[in-house]
Amino acid sequence: MARQTALITGASGGIGYELARQFAQGGYDLVLVARSVEGLKHAADEMRERWNAAVHIAPFDLALPGAADELYQHTQRNGLTVDVLVNNAGFGTHGFFHEIDPKETLDLLNLNVTALTQLTRLYLNGMVERNRGGVLNVASTAAFQPGPFMAAYYASKAYVLSFTEAVAEELSGTRVTVSVLCPGPTGTEFQRRAGITGTVIGAKGLLMMSAERVARVAYRQFRKGKRVIIPGLANKSGAVVAPRVPRALVLPIIKRLQKR
Ligand SMILES: NC(=O)c1ccc[n+]([C@@H]2O[C@H](COP(=O)([O-])OP(=O)(O)OC[C@H]3O[C@@H](n4cnc5c(N)ncnc54)[C@H](OP(=O)(O)O)[C@@H]3O)[C@@H](O)[C@H]2O)c1
Repeated sequence: MARQTALITGASGGIGYELARQFAQGGYDLVLVARSVEGLKHAADEMRERWNAAVHIAPFDLALPGAADELYQHTQRNGLTVDVLVNNAGFGTHGFFHEIDPKETLDLLNLNVTALTQLTRLYLNGMVERNRGGVLNVASTAAFQPGPFMAAYYASKAYVLSFTEAVAEELSGTRVTVSVLCPGPTGTEFQRRAGITGTVIGAKGLLMMSAERVARVAYRQFRKGKRVIIPGLANKSGAVVAPRVPRALVLPIIKRLQKR
């Protein structure tokens, strides 16, 4: 069978880079997307050398309006068939919502929600026509409850979880896999970019998983067709418990964990 291609956003570092390594190791060719050309080149060289993958790099800022469309047109023009779409690129902001730069919040929503939705819409058609492939959207354990001091981020991930589960159900019975990955705290650049290294949740600790482990679990379970993928026992337990605890109890706990 011909090799399949996975398009991975946010593949220049962190979880996306590790997911790219998993897909390359699994025999996929790759389209790697992020803003940093250097980061993408570095990742592409490794995938080519170690796993003989054909790699196309596509530097795009997916927080810009219209970027998802442009990326889709770019892959069409370059004759790239995307069998698997991994919507991984995302970031968080921290602080009192009313004090966060509104442009940062808009970028967050554009990237975490709009680009993810738009890319899913654009690439899913072909997958359904071919009746194979799939979408892996990256949410977070933040999806399971609201998050004071990271309000827009938690809400964006709740959207990703809800959206992905619904689309997955629409396509049940087909051979197109639609999954959502919900990692807990993972050691990447995420904490520094979100400005949460000084919080209980953002600090390096026993509960923080490596991006490599998160990606390994995610790849294996995505390939098995699992719909909601939560790496790590503590994260799984939290995801089960949090939605069942009254909000009046859970909100002050998250607020304390997120406080600097
Ligand atoms: N780390 C955690 O604790 C954690 C926990 C749960 C969920 N997640 C989720 O996991 C995903 C990956 O995060 P990570 O932890 O790997 O963070 P990371 O190390 O900061 O990596 C983020 C990736 O996204 C890319 N990116 C950021 N802004 C972009 C933009 N505007 N356009 C295109 N690409 C962009 C970055 O590359 P460039 O800077 O080169 O663009 C980088 O490749 C995110 O959706 C995050 O919300 C993370």
